[in-house]
Amino acid sequence: MNKIAEIFQSLDYGPAPESPEPALAWLAGKGNTFGHFINGKWTKPGKTFASDNPATGKTLAHITDGSTADVDKAVKAARAAFPAWSALSGYERGKYLYAIARLVQKHSRLFSVLESMDNGKPIRESRDIDIPLVARHFYHHAGWAQHLEREFPGMAPYGVCGQIIPWNFPLLMLAWKIAPALAAGNTVVLKPAEFTSLTALLFAEIVEKAKLPPGVVNIVTGLGDTGAAIVNHPDVDKIAFTGSTEVGKIIRAATAGTGKGLSLELGGKSPYIVFDDADVDSAIEGLVDAIWFNQGQVCCAGSRLLIQESIEERFIAKLKKRMASLRVGDPLDKAVDIGALVAPVQVARVRDLVKKGAAEGGQVYEPDIDLPKGGGCFLRPTLITNVSPSHTVATEEIFGPVLVAMSFRTPEEAVALANNTKYGLASTIWSENINLALDIAPKIKAGVVWINGTNNFDAAVGFGGYKESGFGREGGKEGMAAYLKPKWEKELKPAAMAVPAKAGTSGRELDAHDGIDQTAKMYIGGKQARPDSGYSRTIHGPGGAMVGEVGEGNRKDIRNAVEAARGALGWGTTAAHNRAQILYFLGENLEYRSDEFAKRIRAQTGESLASAQKEVAASVERLFAFAGWADKYDGAVHNPPSRTIAIAMIEPIGVLGIIAPPSRPLLGAIALLAPAIAMGNPVVLVPSETAPLSVTDLYQVIETSDVPAGVINIVTGASATLAKTLAEHDGVDAIWCAGDAATSTMIEKASIGNLKQTWTSRGLYYDLADKAKFEGDYFLRRATQVKNVWVPYGA
Ligand code: NAI
Repeated sequence: MNKIAEIFQSLDYGPAPESPEPALAWLAGKGNTFGHFINGKWTKPGKTFASDNPATGKTLAHITDGSTADVDKAVKAARAAFPAWSALSGYERGKYLYAIARLVQKHSRLFSVLESMDNGKPIRESRDIDIPLVARHFYHHAGWAQHLEREFPGMAPYGVCGQIIPWNFPLLMLAWKIAPALAAGNTVVLKPAEFTSLTALLFAEIVEKAKLPPGVVNIVTGLGDTGAAIVNHPDVDKIAFTGSTEVGKIIRAATAGTGKGLSLELGGKSPYIVFDDADVDSAIEGLVDAIWFNQGQVCCAGSRLLIQESIEERFIAKLKKRMASLRVGDPLDKAVDIGALVAPVQVARVRDLVKKGAAEGGQVYEPDIDLPKGGGCFLRPTLITNVSPSHTVATEEIFGPVLVAMSFRTPEEAVALANNTKYGLASTIWSENINLALDIAPKIKAGVVWINGTNNFDAAVGFGGYKESGFGREGGKEGMAAYLKPKWEKELKPAAMAVPAKAGTSGRELDAHDGIDQTAKMYIGGKQARPDSGYSRTIHGPGGAMVGEVGEGNRKDIRNAVEAARGALGWGTTAAHNRAQILYFLGENLEYRSDEFAKRIRAQTGESLASAQKEVAASVERLFAFAGWADKYDGAVHNPPSRTIAIAMIEPIGVLGIIAPPSRPLLGAIALLAPAIAMGNPVVLVPSETAPLSVTDLYQVIETSDVPAGVINIVTGASATLAKTLAEHDGVDAIWCAGDAATSTMIEKASIGNLKQTWTSRGLYYDLADKAKFEGDYFLRRATQVKNVWVPYGA
């Protein structure tokens, strides 16, 4: 039989190798040794570490381990470049981004080959997915640069952005970080991951070729310490990080109180839900992509298969058959499905987790397929069944080619299992019943939901997580917003914080409730509740006389309030029109009692009645303003270049803790409360410590305004103490604090447990009465997160 006839008999794949030569020649041209790229120049290599090819174990290059001094040099260069770069017109900045996009395309094969050699990912993926998406990102953001002023009026770049990226999509993560930062007018210091610095260094050459002004893009290589030096550098204005949740938490703690902007894109344990009416063959192909794309080293990998029980057996049998046809091998072979993991340490980590899975009772299946001979970081695709939700492999991010499977009976159970994770990055839903799929999508707590598809990415569509998967978005308009801040916010001055009045002995000051002996209680779950402590705190007017008493809240009161707020999470799915009506009603009922509220403000603060009346009127107006926003601040439909649409839904964050400012006792609280509840977040509100009576007086207004129980909960007491309990509570999803610098820092540090989103005023004077600043999207954006639901459209 001749050779061709033989091939037809066996239908075996032949080798289809991509040549490593051009990439090796490029490395050799650099002496296989690299310094940093700082201020448009290459530094001399310093102390180096090896960068190995994980498929062969051979060293590709020696990379400089950046020191604190190197980082400092890069930050100084970025700082020096910032004024001129940010002063360029958007059109001019856009042209640089366009030039980068074109140059990436021109050198795309070199990038792909180098990426596959450095990272181990199959060339098919680097060539067809990673690098084209890199170019797409720069094209897309070239356009944003030009339209920035129109689309983001009053916004300014942060300044110098420190960007730290992981090894799983080295160049793509670089593009996700650098493109929007430059479009917005920031300059950057980027550190690639230690395993995979090479394409970032090749990218530095593109920066040179595109003639970017020196210092606009600086690449500093190194290990974790180099990353930490960037995070801790005092002249860095924003940190953008993608990587492990563990390091994300370290960075959150390190930046607490510094005022640095922060976006975190962290891990995931994303559910892949298959209903019994799904197109099974498509769902299996999708699953191959969801968990074996990039050897499973994908933050949004569909690593938890949730399969409807009625089709479980058939589906798993088909899946095993498909797994047996996957080809593991040389990443540069174009017919290989699964390449090498990034490094031996990662192989060991994955193996350990699989062992643990087996020890906990999981059944481990690996198809009997060949692995390349001669070592290399190769693993077979792995499936673990007989897993229960509490098993380590069902909860921990494995970050390797390992799928765990569990079954469910009803859609409700599927949702419960899907959300039973500390993460919330992505989710996939397969069903031929579009009603079912669109019913499930909003119930999944994740930043991205793919319906009848998986792993769709595009520069025009935001990507990022809920819960411990981090905060901030990359891509889309919301991704651009993450690199901008209001111009006025850069000029804030320290606030002269209100000093608590000393207890006096003179007679009572004017009190709206004079003659009635009352101690305001807490307001929890729609009811007035006595403080757990059994203590009351006396509230004094400016002259020192007592104006009233409130309960002294403690941990237990906060816990009860958070529980009540969690019970009211359905507020987020209440029709926006209904939320609007309730806010209007709150405003109307407050207005009826303007005089009483004005007198109470005067009694607590000593300001004139006219000024107190103005505060009440402004509070009513603010409630109306956000009633107006409730049904208008909404999402978008994106048109990515694939036969899909991405519906960007605006969703509430969840339970929001609010520490109201000490001054302006009514308006300060309403200015934060109104946007939070307008967007569907139940709130635990801690009123001004010194003047809480304006908020405790609201109970009756709340009760007469049809606010559902648990949507507004109020706990009085010492702001900093209650703030700490709120920040540490895992049932709280976000926390806002208009308070002093120390409390703000404490909140940001204490909130790392479940990575709450925080807004703190850090002792700066935010004039919450300012309508131009605070009646619009400033707090709306912080009260919401974007979920992108990808739906096939227009076949
Ligand atoms: P990592 O989070 O340690 O590394 C990511 C980047 O952060 C690298 O550039 C690293 O040098 C830098 N870094 C490390 N420590 C730092 C610090 N203290 N301050 C500032 N920067 C620091 O991730 P690693 O160790 O490479 O992988 C460990 C696990 O993390 C993986 O097995 C996987 O589970 C998860 N991971 C998740 C990623 C994601 O995209 N969600 C990406 C990479 C890893």
